[in-house]
Amino acid sequence: MRDQYQREIDYVRISVTDRCNFRCRYCMPREGVKFADRSEIMTCEEILRFCRAVSGIGIHKVKITGGEPLVRRGVCDLIREIRRIPGIESVTLTTNGMLLGEYLPALEDAGLTGINVSLDTLNTVKFRRITGTDGFSEVWKGICKAVKTSIPVKINCIPMREWNEDELADMAFLAKQFPVMVRFIEMMPMGKGRDYTGIPQEEVKDILRKRFGKMAAAKGRFGNGPAVYYELSDFQGKVGFISAVSHEFCGACNRIRLTADGILKPCLNYAGRVNLRQEMRSGITDQELRYLVKEAIYWKPRRHGFGDEAEEEIKEKRRMAGIGG
Ligand code: GTP
Ligand code: 5AD
Ligand code: SF4
Repeated sequence: MRDQYQREIDYVRISVTDRCNFRCRYCMPREGVKFADRSEIMTCEEILRFCRAVSGIGIHKVKITGGEPLVRRGVCDLIREIRRIPGIESVTLTTNGMLLGEYLPALEDAGLTGINVSLDTLNTVKFRRITGTDGFSEVWKGICKAVKTSIPVKINCIPMREWNEDELADMAFLAKQFPVMVRFIEMMPMGKGRDYTGIPQEEVKDILRKRFGKMAAAKGRFGNGPAVYYELSDFQGKVGFISAVSHEFCGACNRIRLTADGILKPCLNYAGRVNLRQEMRSGITDQELRYLVKEAIYWKPRRHGFGDEAEEEIKEKRRMAGIGG
């Protein structure tokens, strides 16, 4: 369905857990993280009920996120069930990759249609410093296994002055070596992301041109998200940019979000007002559920408004892990 600005909303990002086996510095504090109580987390049945309801109002694409979605028990079965809902065309996953190798066969079997793996460095020491874990080799093994399947793979890298400025061309090289999309994501000023310095898209492009030559804008769509892709000569995959701040894409936004505890979020940077978990548990009908979603879609904010002080009190305050990015 369309929102009040005539944007077609056909994509939902569902966070299935706020927990994570990593502690990326720009996302979570190292210690003392408070997670939601199990009773506050949407059950798989509630998530499925939500998916059935929204498939009836034009949402055809589902992204499963976290925290780390693969730490949620039963996530592969959940993906299988979502895939079976009439009207749902794609179910993709965004993961930190730590458990990917282990779950890949089950994910393939469940009918997953895309895998995005977050990877900010190829250096094991830096990996430990950024994520707080020794998981590089597991993540790498997971990626190598995933590229051998028929599921398309994307790699998400956040360029940061503090950590990986010297590695950006090596990250892009992965798209030459393997048939994967490597996307550079601009750090967004949310939560702990404010503590780090993102590297502007134009600067990353300059680094890549120096090493690989010309970059040509790619035609067509390669997913449901906001990335803009480029082709480089002799590359198997493409290189993409997601630059929410310097190249705002709100005008073409196609998505809503459901947090792990059931808050329906019309925009990444706005705190949602509707708690669908509570509504469902208090016994609303499917028709009422659809109405609540339609209303939230209609009133979707026009822009994320990063840096806009006037609306600060209705902006998102929670950690990225509870939202799913
Ligand atoms: P696909 O390419 O279809 O897999 O979708 P995607 O790029 O949306 O997936 P992914 O989960 O990998 O998201 C990549 C980055 O885009 C994350 O950092 C998200 O936070 C960011 N992102 C996705 N949607 C939005 C949005 O509506 N607004 C902003 N500001 N960032 C977004
Ligand atoms: N800005 C941009 N991207 C972020 N992510 C987490 N926090 C931020 C932030 N502040 C990314 C992760 C992951 C994706 C789901 O969101 O790196 O790839
Ligand atoms: Fe890192 Fe993602 Fe876990 Fe946050 S949710 S700590 S970004 S792996």
